[in-house]
Order: sequence, then structure tokens, then C-alpha cells
Amino acid sequence: RENGRHGTFALRCIHNGVWSAQGLEMSVGKIPFLEAVNGSTVMLPCTYASCIGIENLYFNWQYNDNGTMQKVCDGMIPTEDVIPTVNIFRERVEFIGKNHKNNISILLWNITFEDGGLYTCFGRNRKEKNKNHSAVFHLIVVDELRVVDNTLTILIASAVGGVIGFLMAFMLIKNFTLFVLAKLEEKNKECLVSSSGIDNTENGLSRSKADSKPTPKKK
Ligand SMILES: *[C@@H]1O[C@H](CO)[C@@H](O)[C@H](O)[C@H]1NC(C)=O
Ligand SMILES: *[C@@H]1O[C@H](CO)[C@@H](O)[C@H](O)[C@H]1NC(C)=O
Ligand SMILES: *[C@@H]1O[C@H](CO)[C@@H](O)[C@H](O)[C@H]1NC(C)=O
Ligand SMILES: *[C@@H]1O[C@H](CO)[C@@H](O)[C@H](O)[C@H]1NC(C)=O
Ligand SMILES: *[C@@H]1O[C@H](CO)[C@@H](O)[C@H](O)[C@H]1NC(C)=O
Repeated sequence: RENGRHGTFALRCIHNGVWSAQGLEMSVGKIPFLEAVNGSTVMLPCTYASCIGIENLYFNWQYNDNGTMQKVCDGMIPTEDVIPTVNIFRERVEFIGKNHKNNISILLWNITFEDGGLYTCFGRNRKEKNKNHSAVFHLIVVDELRVVDNTLTILIASAVGGVIGFLMAFMLIKNFTLFVLAKLEEKNKECLVSSSGIDNTENGLSRSKADSKPTPKKK
């Protein structure tokens, strides 16, 4: 019971100036994905942290190929700040982290579309009864980075512009129609008035009466 209580209170501690897990923690950074153009060279970032320290830390990078994990590279880190020997199982891979400040990042040279997918940074610390720890990084390989976004932006812009244009055209047409209708109505009134005037004269009703009472002209 004592142990469990102690465990929960000591779950986190300060390591290298930041709060971190008591045990090993693998991290691929705050943004665990990257979109890159085919043919470029990218870094898959990973660092580890452990409050209790490390001893014979086994690490590897694995590529998730449709559910089967393919080892990209692996190595054993005896203690912090020792450049480990790293076995590389995949072409165009370079271990650039060199365990400098717990950095076990790798470089992927000249990426192809087949390189896209999920990469797991895995660690297991002898000091921690060999518990497994990992973090996943997503590499997205694209053909020409901004074209897709631009197309989308243009699409959205033209859609918005189209809607605004349509609304403006609609307002204009509406106003124009109202104007024409008003004019027509005015004209109709005038016609009615003048025809009634004609009626009056043609009916042969007292001309003088019709003359004396001037027909209302258009306003
Ligand atoms: C990216 O892929 C396209 C289509 O497969 C190819 O035409 C182009 O040359 C590639 N770009 C680079 C830099 O390899
Ligand atoms: C992954 O699996 C799908 C369907 O199961 C298949 O079409 C695809 O070719 C596979 N990709 C690779 C890289 O093996
Ligand atoms: C990456 O591509 C460049 C240019 O094609 C080539 O010179 C270089 O050797 C390649 N690097 C690797 C590690 O394949
Ligand atoms: C890890 O090492 C690489 C190569 O030196 C560097 O570019 C990267 O910034 C380092 N990452 C961290 C988190 O220190
Ligand atoms: C730890 O990972 C290894 C593979 O590296 C696996 O065989 C083992 O079952 C894992 N252990 C746990 C507790 O997940």
C-alpha cells in the first residue's frame, strides 16, 4: 500500500528543467507529423527522458507497413551522452541524433511515396524492468506541397466570390425589376388616366365639363 501511494506521488519529476515521467518517456515532439514533398530529405524526430536515469536503453525506429512493423534501425545506449552503435536496416536512413541530449532522431534521405506512413520510436530501459515505451510520427509524402492547398484556396475563394457575385447580381436584378415594375405601374396609371380622359371626350359628355375639370396629369 505504501509503495502504491509513493508510486502515484512520484509519477512525475523534473528532468532537464521540465516535468517528465518517472519512467522512460519517448517523444516525437509537439507536432507528431510532417508533410514533405517526394525527393526531399526529412528528419523523424525523437527524444527520450527518464527521471530515474537509463541503463542499457534499447531503442529502435519501426515503420508500420500495413500493420507489419519493419525495423528501420536499432541500437543500445549504455548511458546518456554516449554515441551508440546503431544498426540500420533500411536504405537512405541516417542516425543523426547521436544520443546528444537524448536525441535519437533519424534522417530519411530522398524520400519516395513508399516512405510515407507511420514511424514508431520505441524505447525499453533496463532500469525500468524493460517496460515498453513508444511514440508515433506520421510522415506524409506529397507531390508538390502547396498546389493542393492553393487549389482549395482558389476553390473556396471563387466559391465565396461566386456567392457574393450572385448576391450582388441578384440585388441588382431585384432593384432593376422593382424599378421597371414601378415605371410600368406609373405608365399604366398614366394610360388609365388618359384613356379615361378619351372616354370622357368620346362619350360626348359635356365637353365644357371635361375641360373645366382638368384631367390629372402624371405627377
Ligand atoms: C515526385 O514524383 C513525381 C511523380 O511520381 C515525379 O514526377 C517527380 O520527379 C518526383 N519528384 C522528385 C523530386 O523526385
Ligand atoms: C496495404 O494493404 C492494401 C489492402 O490490404 C493493399 O492494397 C496495399 O497495396 C498494401 N500496401 C502495401 C505497401 O503493402
Ligand atoms: C539523394 O539524392 C541525391 C541526388 O539525387 C544523391 O546525390 C544522394 O546520393 C542521395 N542520397 C542518398 C542517401 O541516397
Ligand atoms: C536532434 O538532432 C538533430 C540533428 O542534430 C537536430 O536537428 C534536432 O533539432 C535535434 N532535436 C532535438 C529535440 O534536440
Ligand atoms: C514489448 O515489446 C516487445 C517487442 O519489442 C514485445 O515482444 C513485448 O511483448 C512487449 N511487452 C509489452 C509488455 O508490451
